[in-house]
Amino acid sequence: MGKKHVDLNHKTILVTGSPGFIGANLVLRLLCEMEGGTVISLDNMNDYYDPKLKEYRLGLIEEAAKNSPAQHVFIKGSIADKALIDGLFAEYRPAVVVNLAAQAGVRYSIDHPDVYIESNIIGFYNILEACRNYPVEHLVYASSSSVYGGNRKVPFSTEDKADTPVSLYAATKKSDELLAHAYSKLYGIPSTGLRFFTVYGPAGRPDMFYFSAADTLVRGGTIKIFNYGNCRRDFTYVDDIVEGVFRVMRGAPEKKTGEDGLPVPPYAVYNIGGGTPENLLDYVSTLQDELVRAKVLPEDYDFEAHRELVGMQPGDVPVTYADSAALEEDYGFTPSIGIREGLRRFAEWYKSYYT
Ligand SMILES: NC(=O)c1ccc[n+]([C@@H]2O[C@H](COP(=O)([O-])OP(=O)(O)OC[C@H]3O[C@@H](n4cnc5c(N)ncnc54)[C@H](O)[C@@H]3O)[C@@H](O)[C@H]2O)c1
Repeated sequence: MGKKHVDLNHKTILVTGSPGFIGANLVLRLLCEMEGGTVISLDNMNDYYDPKLKEYRLGLIEEAAKNSPAQHVFIKGSIADKALIDGLFAEYRPAVVVNLAAQAGVRYSIDHPDVYIESNIIGFYNILEACRNYPVEHLVYASSSSVYGGNRKVPFSTEDKADTPVSLYAATKKSDELLAHAYSKLYGIPSTGLRFFTVYGPAGRPDMFYFSAADTLVRGGTIKIFNYGNCRRDFTYVDDIVEGVFRVMRGAPEKKTGEDGLPVPPYAVYNIGGGTPENLLDYVSTLQDELVRAKVLPEDYDFEAHRELVGMQPGDVPVTYADSAALEEDYGFTPSIGIREGLRRFAEWYKSYYT
């Protein structure tokens, strides 16, 4: 698909959901790369997980901003607040918007559905409306591998049907893609949705398996391994996600006219995933090795006594596996950081942060 180059230098870039996990890493990268301009982080700093981690990431961003030619502005607020979003776009006129703010997590959506509708549907709609009223060069937004639901054909391709979500979270992410398509078609907003596959890394999300497993093992508790370990996940290290997002930001879908004389929506969706799904038990073993290596856990830790194989959880899927061919073709990039290296960096960070 044809791409229009977007120069990020000396522009204003809005990243929602920073200082969330992926957002903070993206903003750190932008501050490192940009020769000038402004990066705006917008986050409501909710307490879905310990907000101290968000404060910590914000601290890293503020430190990095001191040495960057680009400026950083942090705004605390919700994308579900239409007046705030309108005002922000009117004041700053961002050229590029990366919408990462969302209520994440599959399991939490079972007991807390309202917040998914508020942040992921209403919040994203507000971003689209603002992009309509204050045109942007490129809107990039986070979707999720969960949109593939229980699809059996692997690897998952963006050409495959993804109409059977098995969680409210997945349904909201698929809805975002549909809303973005309509807005791209109607108002010519260049938009790219990115289906991330299980992202992990230092200062990640404590609700995700690798992080909560480390916490549980440190406390001497027992980790639950779902579907008796018969799960395969395409784990993607956060630096690979950031590299993918950074490349995508600089190549927006081109506006074209179709044979019928009507505009073809400048709209695209890509997978970003490692493309080498790992067996959950192998992932756990590697995590254990690396927690010992980083001296988070003692060498004689009895892992067998601290793990329990249990059945599948509602909303979970047994395999996620990304077909990243389109990302490679259009942006020349395929994630490549393996779980050994990625979990090593996580374990080392964990050791330095908590001890
Ligand atoms: N981490 C993954 O494995 C993964 C996988 C697939 C998709 N995603 C998507 O990537 C994006 C970033 O995920 P993450 O792992 O960094 O999660 P995260 O929870 O660390 O970051 C999301 C941030 O958004 C903020 N937020 C939530 N609702 C908001 C609202 N209404 N207004 C403003 N801020 C709000 C939160 O406070 C948080 O800091 C999300 O859209 C998520 O759904 C993540």
